Amino acid sequence: MQTTLLSLHSRFPIASVDERIFGGFIEHMGRCVYEGLYDPSSKHADADGFRSDVCGALKRLGMTAIRYPGGNFASGYHWLDGVGPRDARPTVRELAWQSSEPNRFGTDEYLRLCAVMGWTPMLTVNLGTGTPEEARNWVEYCNCPGGTKYADLRVAGGNDRPYGVKLWCLGNEMDGAWQLGHVPADQYAIRAQQAAKMMKDTDKSIALVACGSCGVSIPTYMEWDRIVLEYLGDQADYVSLHRYVENRANDTADFLAVTNAVDRQIEEMDAVCRFVQARRRSRKRAYLCFDEWNVWYKNMECNGQGKFAPHLVEEVYNLEDALVVAGFLHSFLRHADCVKIANIAQVVNVIAPVLTQGDRMLIQSIFYPFEMFSRRRNGVSLRPAVEGPAYEGKTHGRTNYIDVSAVLDGQRMHVFATNRAPDAEAELAVRIADADIAALDSAELLTGPDAKAANSYENPDVIRSVEWREPAVRNGQAVAKLPPLSLAAMTFRLA
Ligand code: AHR
Repeated sequence: MQTTLLSLHSRFPIASVDERIFGGFIEHMGRCVYEGLYDPSSKHADADGFRSDVCGALKRLGMTAIRYPGGNFASGYHWLDGVGPRDARPTVRELAWQSSEPNRFGTDEYLRLCAVMGWTPMLTVNLGTGTPEEARNWVEYCNCPGGTKYADLRVAGGNDRPYGVKLWCLGNEMDGAWQLGHVPADQYAIRAQQAAKMMKDTDKSIALVACGSCGVSIPTYMEWDRIVLEYLGDQADYVSLHRYVENRANDTADFLAVTNAVDRQIEEMDAVCRFVQARRRSRKRAYLCFDEWNVWYKNMECNGQGKFAPHLVEEVYNLEDALVVAGFLHSFLRHADCVKIANIAQVVNVIAPVLTQGDRMLIQSIFYPFEMFSRRRNGVSLRPAVEGPAYEGKTHGRTNYIDVSAVLDGQRMHVFATNRAPDAEAELAVRIADADIAALDSAELLTGPDAKAANSYENPDVIRSVEWREPAVRNGQAVAKLPPLSLAAMTFRLA
């Protein structure tokens, strides 16, 4: 077995890790909101109607920025439908997912949930069928003190104090032909600029995320981003990118190499930001907001047939999916200089780490990598130099068997390592050039019987992380043998 050597140096930082890369996404889609998070009829419902079992599980993930209310849903959503007395709210025909939306859960319920969970709110305005003015009115509702029309509406609902929502997305996937109100880049840019101006005029402390390309295969990829960023200028604080990955070819090695493509997408999007910044001779650089990402290809049921809370895209995740989720997180850490926000899509039932069935709840495989990284996210991401064996992925080129990232937190160092080899152990040696590794503080390992193994209600613990004592520290270095298809999260103390 050839050892992989990971060399680090505390003076080679990438950037501080922005904790908002551990964000999530709640959409009015399928059973994410209703039944998943909000179900007053459940035996787990708390006083607000939130499912305490689901909230308890999500708390373990330490999620930060939570995007809401969509997604595609946002492009047909009129926020006024979801505020005021619940019984007076309209039930509407919802077009993005062909569902029935009763608006029992709206802005105040979402912001209450954020407060209960310690989440940072992140609202997506409707720039599909909505107007820039409607977007601006929502900012007033959320952020302004009482005394004017929309702020008073909030006060009338019993919420005197402004919520102070700082993060706002200027629409969703407006480059996609499926999007309600989809338009070419220049027209979206005009809408977004008008909304941005009025929203910032209402509350200058907010930060805005412009809609970037939602995928690398979209014909307008990069060109859309250039046009939008040039037109929005300094009003764009962030630009969004999305990625859902798949293993339809059933090629585990190639699937696990998809992290290379995520790295590349980030670097290309960052290149557009820098290009536009340079062309505009601006001091302001837009950063990246990876506000939808996950594995998604097994369950593509997207038509709700007019029903309330239909079962949509309830993807079941296996071990290889969990390792790919780890790959996204490695990539975000390795690009901590430009990726400032990221939201796994979504949080419950819909392509999610947690599933519910009646009052039952199941933790899926992808829950664990998120938890393992999130617990060790504080600090500065270090530039990893990796020397070790690699393979040739069919689609994604040369790929190290061991994928890594590292975070330095004062005298503690977190190292994350994925062994992509399907049937071989892989040895990892870690050294930090300007310090000695003194001891192992804690470590967790995620692995399972095979790539396709998944948790089920009958066998809920097939894939889960366990405490791991294997990493050894000798002569200031650490060495660990990673089982095939595994993820290790290790925390070391430095001398
Ligand atoms: O997360 C599910 C959907 O995927 C979102 O609504 C949309 O933005 C994306 O296409």
